[in-house]
Amino acid sequence: MPYQDLREYLDALKKAGKLKIIEKEVDKDWEIAAVGRIAFQTIHESERPALMFTNVKGHESPVVFGILGGSRSIYSLALETTPDGIQEKWAQAQKNPVPPRIVETGPCKENILKGDDVDIFKFPVPTWTVGEDPAPYLTSPFVFTKDPETGVQNVGVYRVMLKERNKVGVWINFVQHGRKHKEMWDARNEPTPVAIVLGTDPSIGLCSVARMIYGLDELAAAGGLRGEPVDVVKCETHDIYVPATAEIVIEGYFRPNYLEEEGPFGEYPGYMGPTAMSYVMDITCITHRDNPIYQAFLSQMPPSESSMIRSIGREAAIYKHLVHDLKLPVKDVHLLEAGGAAAYLAISMKKEHEGQVRQVMLAAWSVDPTLAKFCVVVDDDIDIRNQFMLNWAISWRVQPHKDVFIIEDMPAVRLDPSQAADEVAQLDNSRRTSSKMGIDATQKHKFPAIALPPKEHLEHVRKNWHEYWN
Ligand SMILES: Cc1cc2nc3c(=O)[nH]c(=O)nc-3n(C[C@H](O)[C@H](O)[C@H](O)COP(=O)(O)O)c2cc1C
Repeated sequence: MPYQDLREYLDALKKAGKLKIIEKEVDKDWEIAAVGRIAFQTIHESERPALMFTNVKGHESPVVFGILGGSRSIYSLALETTPDGIQEKWAQAQKNPVPPRIVETGPCKENILKGDDVDIFKFPVPTWTVGEDPAPYLTSPFVFTKDPETGVQNVGVYRVMLKERNKVGVWINFVQHGRKHKEMWDARNEPTPVAIVLGTDPSIGLCSVARMIYGLDELAAAGGLRGEPVDVVKCETHDIYVPATAEIVIEGYFRPNYLEEEGPFGEYPGYMGPTAMSYVMDITCITHRDNPIYQAFLSQMPPSESSMIRSIGREAAIYKHLVHDLKLPVKDVHLLEAGGAAAYLAISMKKEHEGQVRQVMLAAWSVDPTLAKFCVVVDDDIDIRNQFMLNWAISWRVQPHKDVFIIEDMPAVRLDPSQAADEVAQLDNSRRTSSKMGIDATQKHKFPAIALPPKEHLEHVRKNWHEYWN
């Protein structure tokens, strides 16, 4: 049975011991971000819970984050599978989408605020990089738009800056389908109807951040994950359909052919992203459940919820291409969180012949050429999720003059601060291309034996460790 809403899912997290409830009063303008950061930096990923703040100074609503990407095991709980089943669950959902089902009404209509009652500041929206971000930001907004020609909806997560009680700024990158919709409405010189949804059953959030083919409604993919349709209701002030059990729905329109400064904002590489010229949304209505729960993503400096979510999705896509499409002898693929799950890719493989390592690297870059500024390939005896072993292989299996190569003018991660100086705009051409480095850290000739005790001796000692270590 899929989760019906955020509340049911939070109960499941609690039962699994994966929800840390913080009852101490916290200030959303500095303290929530600091507590989140310490939790993510100090608790090992395998143990990390999602966080729920129930006593936010000056607010009734609780704040939750880490509930989708706090860790691999939280992500798999959200998908109702095991960490090993994540890839298969996604593959099945995309093959079998289930369109949403329109219903008359739902809990998201328990409170309907229009006119002077509209006030986005009534929700406990944290400031994330205090002293740098110019305002509180929604970091987990599921932004709904629709194609003006086909009527097919799209959902994506794009950062949202709170500007006035009824006005927000939204940054949508040039590759996103949400931007495509905005440009189609702009071409007609008409305002773009938009709804920002906060707090839903987890399948919707996971689909919002996943790249789908254009024209596939993310809610249909969410239906595929759930095995039953998502119930949707019509918005009050336009005809976008949103999940009926959502905690909060912010309705409005993007101004046509109009941009305003937005940002800077603390971004997933761990640095401030530059100020952008972004879309402006005028809010026409807010609907919300009684006692709404405010959901966010913890992003900024990795390790973060953002880098964890990105790494799981992107690793699966690269692995599928290398192993299933090209049948290459690849064992594992890992985008390191230190690189924001973007800059640093490690691959382990059982090399069959010379030249195959470069084939693997080029194939990995072809999946998403902005990724993997550094691409390291090691033999299959190296666990690439163990950073010590990865660095050991690079240290002793590489001759830099022949095992390292650089390709220039590949697409870049635009938020990479090494691309251009801080004052250069996010869409400036100097941020478009980047060089890539391939490091072949496989053995190219017969190596001496590894200087470790025999495996069986180590195994024996490991099994009986308590006898030595009491
Ligand atoms: C925490 C988080 C924050 C994100 N912020 C942005 C953003 O500000 N702008 C953007 O264009 N994409 C952002 N993304 C990426 C998009 O949500 C993602 O690429 C999504 O697939 C876009 O959907 P679309 O192609 O349907 O428009 C973010 C992703 C995550 C996980």
